Amino acid sequence: TAACCNALLTGAALYGIYRYFYGGICRCTTRLDGLVIIITGPTSGIGKALSFLLVERGASLVLACRDLEKGNQLKNKLKKYNSNNAKIFVKQLNLQSFSSIIKFAEDINSTFNEIYALVNNAGVFFHEQKLTEDGFDITFQVNYLGPFVLTHHLLKTLKKSDHARVVNVASEAHRTVNVYDLKAITKCQTDFRTHYKAYGVSKLALVLFSRQLAKKLKNTNILVNAVNPGNVETAIYRYFPPLCNPFLYALQWPVRTIVVKRPHQGAQSLLHSLLTSNRSTGQYISDCKLALPSSIALNDSLAEEYYDLTMQLLSDIFTTESDC
Ligand SMILES: NC(=O)c1ccc[n+]([C@@H]2O[C@H](COP(=O)([O-])OP(=O)(O)OC[C@H]3O[C@@H](n4cnc5c(N)ncnc54)[C@H](OP(=O)(O)O)[C@@H]3O)[C@@H](O)[C@H]2O)c1
Ligand SMILES: *[C@@H]1O[C@H](CO)[C@@H](O)[C@H](O)[C@H]1NC(C)=O
Ligand SMILES: *[C@@H]1O[C@H](CO)[C@@H](O)[C@H](O)[C@H]1NC(C)=O
Ligand SMILES: *[C@@H]1O[C@H](CO)[C@@H](O)[C@H](O)[C@H]1NC(C)=O
Repeated sequence: TAACCNALLTGAALYGIYRYFYGGICRCTTRLDGLVIIITGPTSGIGKALSFLLVERGASLVLACRDLEKGNQLKNKLKKYNSNNAKIFVKQLNLQSFSSIIKFAEDINSTFNEIYALVNNAGVFFHEQKLTEDGFDITFQVNYLGPFVLTHHLLKTLKKSDHARVVNVASEAHRTVNVYDLKAITKCQTDFRTHYKAYGVSKLALVLFSRQLAKKLKNTNILVNAVNPGNVETAIYRYFPPLCNPFLYALQWPVRTIVVKRPHQGAQSLLHSLLTSNRSTGQYISDCKLALPSSIALNDSLAEEYYDLTMQLLSDIFTTESDC
Protein backbone atom coordinates (compact mmCIF):
# COMPACT_ATOMS: atom_id res chain seq x y z
CA THR A 1 0.00 0.00 0.00
CA ALA A 2 2.96 2.33 0.63
CA ALA A 3 4.01 1.94 -3.01
CA CYS A 4 0.47 2.59 -4.09
CA CYS A 5 0.29 5.68 -1.91
CA ASN A 6 3.59 6.94 -3.32
CA ALA A 7 2.38 6.40 -6.84
CA LEU A 8 -0.80 8.33 -6.09
CA LEU A 9 1.10 11.20 -4.49
CA THR A 10 3.58 11.35 -7.36
CA GLY A 11 0.72 11.33 -9.85
CA ALA A 12 -1.05 14.11 -8.00
CA ALA A 13 2.15 16.18 -7.80
CA LEU A 14 2.87 15.74 -11.53
CA TYR A 15 -0.71 16.69 -12.34
CA GLY A 16 -0.40 19.77 -10.13
CA ILE A 17 2.78 20.81 -11.94
CA TYR A 18 1.10 20.18 -15.29
CA ARG A 19 -1.89 22.36 -14.32
CA TYR A 20 0.49 25.07 -13.14
CA PHE A 21 2.30 25.22 -16.49
CA TYR A 22 -0.93 24.75 -18.44
CA GLY A 23 -1.56 28.48 -18.04
CA GLY A 24 -4.63 30.64 -18.36
CA ILE A 25 -7.77 29.58 -20.20
CA CYS A 26 -9.92 32.01 -22.13
CA ARG A 27 -13.42 31.82 -20.69
CA CYS A 28 -15.06 34.47 -22.85
CA THR A 29 -18.17 33.16 -24.56
CA THR A 30 -18.25 35.90 -27.21
CA ARG A 31 -18.83 34.80 -30.79
CA LEU A 32 -17.18 36.29 -33.85
CA ASP A 33 -19.81 35.67 -36.51
CA GLY A 34 -19.33 37.86 -39.54
CA LEU A 35 -16.02 39.31 -38.37
CA VAL A 36 -12.88 39.06 -40.49
CA ILE A 37 -9.63 38.15 -38.75
CA ILE A 38 -6.25 38.07 -40.44
CA ILE A 39 -3.75 35.72 -38.89
CA THR A 40 -0.12 35.51 -39.96
CA GLY A 41 1.77 32.22 -39.64
CA PRO A 42 -1.40 30.08 -39.30
CA THR A 43 0.21 26.98 -40.81
CA SER A 44 2.00 25.81 -37.68
CA GLY A 45 2.00 25.85 -33.89
CA ILE A 46 0.11 28.56 -32.02
CA GLY A 47 -1.30 30.22 -35.14
CA LYS A 48 -2.71 26.93 -36.38
CA ALA A 49 -4.34 26.19 -33.03
CA LEU A 50 -5.80 29.70 -32.94
CA SER A 51 -7.28 29.26 -36.43
CA PHE A 52 -9.36 26.30 -35.18
CA LEU A 53 -10.51 28.20 -32.10
CA LEU A 54 -11.57 31.20 -34.21
CA VAL A 55 -13.41 29.20 -36.85
CA GLU A 56 -15.36 27.45 -34.08
CA ARG A 57 -16.55 30.91 -32.99
CA GLY A 58 -17.76 31.79 -36.46
CA ALA A 59 -14.99 34.16 -37.58
CA SER A 60 -14.09 34.59 -41.22
CA LEU A 61 -10.37 33.97 -41.52
CA VAL A 62 -7.63 35.21 -43.77
CA LEU A 63 -4.81 32.69 -43.51
CA ALA A 64 -1.74 34.76 -44.32
CA CYS A 65 0.90 32.16 -45.04
CA ARG A 66 4.20 32.00 -46.82
CA ASP A 67 3.45 28.53 -48.17
CA LEU A 68 0.14 28.43 -50.09
CA GLU A 69 0.07 24.64 -50.20
CA LYS A 70 0.24 24.42 -46.40
CA GLY A 71 -2.43 27.13 -46.26
CA ASN A 72 -4.80 25.21 -48.50
CA GLN A 73 -4.30 22.02 -46.49
CA LEU A 74 -5.18 23.94 -43.34
CA LYS A 75 -8.26 25.45 -44.99
CA ASN A 76 -9.51 21.93 -45.78
CA LYS A 77 -9.02 20.81 -42.19
CA LEU A 78 -10.76 23.91 -40.85
CA LYS A 79 -13.87 23.22 -42.94
CA LYS A 80 -14.95 20.48 -40.52
CA TYR A 81 -15.09 22.94 -37.62
CA ASN A 82 -16.73 25.66 -39.62
CA SER A 83 -20.39 25.06 -38.81
CA ASN A 84 -21.14 28.69 -39.60
CA ASN A 85 -19.83 28.31 -43.15
CA ALA A 86 -17.73 31.40 -42.63
CA LYS A 87 -15.42 32.27 -45.48
CA ILE A 88 -11.80 31.18 -45.23
CA PHE A 89 -9.26 32.84 -47.49
CA VAL A 90 -5.73 31.61 -48.13
CA LYS A 91 -3.38 34.40 -49.12
CA GLN A 92 0.35 34.59 -49.55
CA LEU A 93 2.47 36.68 -47.21
CA ASN A 94 6.20 36.46 -46.75
CA LEU A 95 7.33 38.75 -43.95
CA GLN A 96 10.93 38.54 -45.17
CA SER A 97 9.93 40.76 -48.07
CA PHE A 98 8.35 44.20 -47.88
CA SER A 99 7.10 43.89 -51.45
CA SER A 100 5.21 40.72 -50.45
CA ILE A 101 3.72 42.56 -47.47
CA ILE A 102 2.54 45.47 -49.61
CA LYS A 103 1.10 43.15 -52.24
CA PHE A 104 -0.79 41.31 -49.49
CA ALA A 105 -2.12 44.57 -48.03
CA GLU A 106 -3.32 45.75 -51.44
CA ASP A 107 -5.15 42.46 -51.88
CA ILE A 108 -6.81 42.78 -48.43
CA ASN A 109 -7.71 46.36 -49.23
CA SER A 110 -9.50 45.41 -52.40
CA THR A 111 -11.18 42.27 -50.97
CA PHE A 112 -12.60 43.58 -47.67
CA ASN A 113 -14.47 46.69 -46.68
CA GLU A 114 -13.50 46.22 -43.07
CA ILE A 115 -11.53 43.87 -40.89
CA TYR A 116 -11.98 43.19 -37.21
CA ALA A 117 -8.52 42.02 -36.28
CA LEU A 118 -4.94 41.47 -37.32
CA VAL A 119 -3.00 38.83 -35.39
CA ASN A 120 0.73 39.31 -35.95
CA ASN A 121 1.66 35.78 -34.96
CA ALA A 122 4.26 34.57 -37.50
CA GLY A 123 7.75 34.52 -36.12
CA VAL A 124 11.15 32.86 -36.22
CA PHE A 125 13.55 31.99 -33.41
CA PHE A 126 17.29 31.36 -33.56
CA HIS A 127 17.30 31.83 -37.33
CA GLU A 128 20.67 32.02 -39.05
CA GLN A 129 21.84 35.62 -38.99
CA LYS A 130 21.57 36.91 -42.52
CA LEU A 131 20.04 39.84 -44.30
CA THR A 132 16.73 39.91 -46.14
CA GLU A 133 16.32 41.31 -49.66
CA ASP A 134 15.41 44.56 -47.92
CA GLY A 135 18.72 44.59 -46.04
CA PHE A 136 17.55 43.79 -42.51
CA ASP A 137 18.36 40.93 -40.16
CA ILE A 138 15.84 38.14 -40.91
CA THR A 139 14.63 37.68 -37.34
CA PHE A 140 14.26 41.43 -36.87
CA GLN A 141 12.30 41.80 -40.10
CA VAL A 142 10.01 38.76 -39.78
CA ASN A 143 9.22 39.34 -36.09
CA TYR A 144 9.14 43.13 -35.94
CA LEU A 145 9.62 45.26 -39.07
CA GLY A 146 7.26 43.06 -41.10
CA PRO A 147 4.39 43.31 -38.58
CA PHE A 148 5.13 47.05 -38.23
CA VAL A 149 4.75 47.61 -41.99
CA LEU A 150 1.78 45.27 -42.34
CA THR A 151 -0.11 46.87 -39.46
CA HIS A 152 0.33 50.38 -40.84
CA HIS A 153 -0.87 49.30 -44.27
CA LEU A 154 -4.02 47.79 -42.77
CA LEU A 155 -4.93 50.61 -40.39
CA LYS A 156 -7.41 52.21 -42.78
CA THR A 157 -9.31 48.95 -43.22
CA LEU A 158 -9.18 48.26 -39.46
CA LYS A 159 -10.57 51.74 -38.80
CA LYS A 160 -13.67 50.96 -40.85
CA SER A 161 -14.77 48.27 -38.39
CA ASP A 162 -16.81 49.41 -35.34
CA HIS A 163 -14.33 47.68 -33.08
CA ALA A 164 -10.93 46.46 -34.17
CA ARG A 165 -7.90 44.86 -32.59
CA VAL A 166 -4.26 44.30 -33.33
CA VAL A 167 -2.67 41.43 -31.42
CA ASN A 168 1.13 41.27 -31.52
CA VAL A 169 2.53 37.94 -30.38
CA ALA A 170 5.50 38.77 -28.19
CA SER A 171 7.52 36.65 -25.77
CA GLU A 172 9.09 36.64 -22.34
CA ALA A 173 12.38 36.73 -24.28
CA HIS A 174 11.81 40.50 -24.53
CA ARG A 175 13.21 40.62 -20.98
CA THR A 176 16.60 39.22 -22.01
CA VAL A 177 17.83 42.30 -23.89
CA ASN A 178 18.71 45.87 -22.95
CA VAL A 179 18.47 49.28 -24.59
CA TYR A 180 21.96 48.88 -26.05
CA ASP A 181 20.87 45.70 -27.86
CA LEU A 182 17.67 47.37 -28.98
CA LYS A 183 19.48 50.28 -30.58
CA ALA A 184 22.36 48.30 -32.09
CA ILE A 185 20.04 47.44 -34.95
CA THR A 186 19.67 51.04 -35.96
CA LYS A 187 23.43 51.40 -36.41
CA CYS A 188 24.37 48.13 -38.04
CA GLN A 189 22.09 45.37 -39.20
CA THR A 190 24.43 42.60 -38.13
CA ASP A 191 25.38 44.01 -34.76
CA PHE A 192 23.35 41.43 -32.85
CA ARG A 193 25.73 39.51 -30.70
CA THR A 194 23.83 36.24 -30.96
CA HIS A 195 20.77 34.85 -32.72
CA TYR A 196 19.15 34.75 -29.33
CA LYS A 197 19.67 38.50 -28.92
CA ALA A 198 18.11 39.11 -32.32
CA TYR A 199 14.98 37.31 -31.12
CA GLY A 200 14.86 39.16 -27.80
CA VAL A 201 15.30 42.51 -29.55
CA SER A 202 12.57 41.74 -32.07
CA LYS A 203 10.14 40.91 -29.25
CA LEU A 204 11.06 43.90 -27.07
CA ALA A 205 10.61 46.10 -30.16
CA LEU A 206 7.18 44.53 -30.70
CA VAL A 207 6.09 45.21 -27.11
CA LEU A 208 7.25 48.84 -27.38
CA PHE A 209 5.50 49.15 -30.76
CA SER A 210 2.23 47.87 -29.27
CA ARG A 211 2.46 50.50 -26.55
CA GLN A 212 3.27 53.38 -28.89
CA LEU A 213 0.73 52.44 -31.56
CA ALA A 214 -1.98 52.08 -28.89
CA LYS A 215 -1.16 55.60 -27.73
CA LYS A 216 -1.38 56.96 -31.27
CA LEU A 217 -4.70 55.18 -31.83
CA LYS A 218 -6.17 56.07 -28.43
CA ASN A 219 -9.11 57.96 -29.86
CA THR A 220 -9.95 55.37 -32.47
CA ASN A 221 -11.80 52.04 -32.48
CA ILE A 222 -8.55 50.03 -32.56
CA LEU A 223 -7.08 48.27 -29.52
CA VAL A 224 -3.45 47.18 -29.74
CA ASN A 225 -1.94 44.70 -27.30
CA ALA A 226 1.15 42.51 -27.03
CA VAL A 227 0.51 38.93 -25.98
CA ASN A 228 2.83 36.37 -24.46
CA PRO A 229 1.68 32.85 -25.38
CA GLY A 230 3.95 31.21 -22.79
CA ASN A 231 6.35 28.36 -23.44
CA VAL A 232 4.74 26.24 -26.17
CA GLU A 233 5.75 23.02 -27.95
CA THR A 234 5.85 24.06 -31.62
CA ALA A 235 8.10 24.13 -34.68
CA ILE A 236 9.58 27.44 -33.48
CA TYR A 237 12.58 25.41 -32.27
CA ARG A 238 13.38 24.16 -35.76
CA TYR A 239 16.72 26.05 -35.77
CA PHE A 240 17.51 25.72 -32.06
CA PRO A 241 20.29 23.14 -31.56
CA PRO A 242 19.24 21.83 -28.11
CA LEU A 243 15.76 21.03 -29.41
CA CYS A 244 15.99 20.40 -33.16
CA ASN A 245 18.36 17.49 -32.54
CA PRO A 246 16.05 14.42 -32.17
CA PHE A 247 18.30 12.77 -29.60
CA LEU A 248 18.55 15.83 -27.36
CA TYR A 249 14.83 16.40 -27.79
CA ALA A 250 14.03 12.83 -26.73
CA LEU A 251 16.06 13.32 -23.54
CA GLN A 252 14.03 16.39 -22.62
CA TRP A 253 10.69 15.04 -23.76
CA PRO A 254 9.46 13.66 -20.40
CA VAL A 255 9.92 17.02 -18.69
CA ARG A 256 8.69 19.06 -21.66
CA THR A 257 5.46 17.04 -21.78
CA ILE A 258 4.64 18.35 -18.34
CA VAL A 259 6.02 21.90 -18.30
CA VAL A 260 5.59 23.06 -21.91
CA LYS A 261 2.15 24.07 -23.20
CA ARG A 262 0.39 22.46 -26.16
CA PRO A 263 -0.39 24.84 -29.04
CA HIS A 264 -4.10 25.16 -28.13
CA GLN A 265 -3.02 26.22 -24.64
CA GLY A 266 -0.53 28.69 -26.09
CA ALA A 267 -3.32 30.16 -28.22
CA GLN A 268 -5.53 30.99 -25.19
CA SER A 269 -4.10 34.43 -24.44
CA LEU A 270 -4.30 35.36 -28.13
CA LEU A 271 -7.94 34.27 -28.18
CA HIS A 272 -8.58 36.19 -24.97
CA SER A 273 -7.21 39.43 -26.41
CA LEU A 274 -9.48 39.03 -29.44
CA LEU A 275 -12.60 38.38 -27.35
CA THR A 276 -12.34 40.24 -24.07
CA SER A 277 -14.72 43.11 -23.43
CA ASN A 278 -11.98 44.84 -21.41
CA ARG A 279 -10.98 47.77 -23.61
CA SER A 280 -7.48 48.20 -22.25
CA THR A 281 -4.91 48.92 -24.94
CA GLY A 282 -1.12 49.13 -25.19
CA GLN A 283 -0.86 46.36 -22.59
CA TYR A 284 1.08 43.12 -22.20
CA ILE A 285 -1.17 40.09 -21.80
CA SER A 286 -0.03 36.79 -20.37
CA ASP A 287 -2.14 33.82 -19.21
CA CYS A 288 -5.31 35.70 -20.26
CA LYS A 289 -4.60 38.55 -17.83
CA LEU A 290 -2.91 41.93 -17.95
CA ALA A 291 0.72 41.47 -16.93
CA LEU A 292 3.77 43.68 -16.58
CA PRO A 293 6.43 43.54 -19.29
CA SER A 294 10.06 44.47 -18.48
CA SER A 295 10.69 47.97 -17.15
CA ILE A 296 12.35 48.91 -20.46
CA ALA A 297 9.13 47.98 -22.25
CA LEU A 298 7.19 50.36 -19.97
CA ASN A 299 9.27 53.41 -20.90
CA ASP A 300 6.95 55.65 -22.94
CA SER A 301 9.66 57.97 -24.19
CA LEU A 302 11.68 54.98 -25.40
CA ALA A 303 8.57 53.60 -27.11
CA GLU A 304 8.10 56.88 -28.93
CA GLU A 305 11.78 57.22 -29.80
CA TYR A 306 11.95 53.66 -31.12
CA TYR A 307 8.80 54.10 -33.17
CA ASP A 308 10.33 57.16 -34.84
CA LEU A 309 13.63 55.33 -35.38
CA THR A 310 11.73 52.48 -37.03
CA MET A 311 9.90 54.92 -39.29
CA GLN A 312 13.31 56.33 -40.30
CA LEU A 313 14.65 52.83 -41.01
CA LEU A 314 11.58 52.27 -43.20
CA SER A 315 11.59 55.69 -44.86
CA ASP A 316 11.68 54.03 -48.31
CA ILE A 317 8.36 52.37 -47.54
CA PHE A 318 6.55 55.12 -45.71
CA THR A 319 7.05 57.89 -48.22
CA THR A 320 3.64 59.39 -47.54
CA GLU A 321 2.17 60.47 -44.20
CA SER A 322 1.17 57.42 -42.15
CA ASP A 323 -2.42 56.84 -41.12
CA CYS A 324 -2.16 57.41 -37.40
N1 LIG B 1 6.52 28.40 -29.01
C1 LIG B 1 6.86 29.18 -27.99
O1 LIG B 1 7.31 28.68 -26.95
C2 LIG B 1 6.73 30.66 -28.09
C3 LIG B 1 7.01 31.44 -26.95
C4 LIG B 1 6.89 32.81 -27.03
C5 LIG B 1 6.48 33.40 -28.20
N2 LIG B 1 6.21 32.64 -29.31
C6 LIG B 1 5.80 33.32 -30.53
O2 LIG B 1 4.60 32.73 -31.04
C7 LIG B 1 4.52 32.98 -32.44
C8 LIG B 1 4.12 31.69 -33.15
O3 LIG B 1 5.18 30.78 -33.01
P1 LIG B 1 5.02 29.19 -32.92
O4 LIG B 1 5.62 28.79 -31.63
O5 LIG B 1 3.66 28.79 -33.26
O6 LIG B 1 6.08 28.76 -34.06
P2 LIG B 1 5.94 27.90 -35.41
O7 LIG B 1 5.23 26.63 -35.14
O8 LIG B 1 7.32 27.84 -35.95
O9 LIG B 1 5.03 28.82 -36.34
C9 LIG B 1 5.53 30.00 -36.89
C10 LIG B 1 4.68 30.41 -38.07
O10 LIG B 1 5.27 31.58 -38.68
C11 LIG B 1 5.40 31.36 -40.07
N3 LIG B 1 6.52 32.11 -40.63
C12 LIG B 1 7.83 31.97 -40.37
N4 LIG B 1 8.55 32.80 -41.13
C13 LIG B 1 7.68 33.48 -41.91
C14 LIG B 1 7.80 34.44 -42.93
N5 LIG B 1 9.01 34.88 -43.34
N6 LIG B 1 6.69 34.93 -43.51
C15 LIG B 1 5.48 34.48 -43.14
N7 LIG B 1 5.29 33.54 -42.22
C16 LIG B 1 6.39 33.05 -41.60
C17 LIG B 1 5.61 29.85 -40.19
O11 LIG B 1 5.31 29.42 -41.51
P3 LIG B 1 5.57 27.88 -41.98
O12 LIG B 1 4.40 27.09 -41.43
O13 LIG B 1 5.53 27.99 -43.46
O14 LIG B 1 6.87 27.46 -41.43
C18 LIG B 1 4.63 29.33 -39.16
O15 LIG B 1 3.33 29.26 -39.69
C19 LIG B 1 5.88 33.52 -32.85
O16 LIG B 1 5.79 34.92 -33.00
C20 LIG B 1 6.76 33.18 -31.68
O17 LIG B 1 7.85 34.06 -31.56
C21 LIG B 1 6.33 31.28 -29.27
C1 LIG C 1 -5.72 50.76 -48.93
O1 LIG C 1 -6.93 51.48 -49.19
C2 LIG C 1 -6.92 52.82 -48.82
C3 LIG C 1 -8.28 53.43 -49.12
O2 LIG C 1 -9.25 52.85 -48.35
C4 LIG C 1 -5.79 53.54 -49.54
O3 LIG C 1 -5.74 54.88 -49.11
C5 LIG C 1 -4.47 52.85 -49.24
O4 LIG C 1 -3.40 53.45 -49.95
C6 LIG C 1 -4.53 51.38 -49.62
N1 LIG C 1 -3.28 50.71 -49.25
C7 LIG C 1 -2.73 49.76 -50.01
C8 LIG C 1 -1.47 49.12 -49.53
O5 LIG C 1 -3.22 49.39 -51.04
C1 LIG D 1 -9.26 45.78 -17.64
O1 LIG D 1 -8.92 44.85 -16.64
C2 LIG D 1 -8.02 45.31 -15.65
C3 LIG D 1 -7.74 44.21 -14.66
O2 LIG D 1 -7.48 42.99 -15.28
C4 LIG D 1 -8.54 46.52 -14.94
O3 LIG D 1 -7.56 47.02 -14.06
C5 LIG D 1 -8.90 47.59 -15.96
O4 LIG D 1 -9.52 48.65 -15.30
C6 LIG D 1 -9.83 47.04 -17.02
N1 LIG D 1 -9.97 48.07 -18.03
C7 LIG D 1 -11.14 48.41 -18.54
C8 LIG D 1 -11.14 49.54 -19.53
O5 LIG D 1 -12.17 47.84 -18.24
C1 LIG E 1 13.43 56.05 -20.98
O1 LIG E 1 13.92 56.18 -22.30
C2 LIG E 1 14.49 57.44 -22.56
C3 LIG E 1 14.74 57.52 -24.06
O2 LIG E 1 15.56 56.48 -24.51
C4 LIG E 1 15.73 57.59 -21.69
O3 LIG E 1 16.32 58.86 -21.94
C5 LIG E 1 15.34 57.49 -20.24
O4 LIG E 1 16.50 57.51 -19.42
C6 LIG E 1 14.57 56.20 -19.97
N1 LIG E 1 14.01 56.22 -18.64
C7 LIG E 1 14.24 55.29 -17.74
C8 LIG E 1 13.56 55.43 -16.41
O5 LIG E 1 14.96 54.32 -17.98
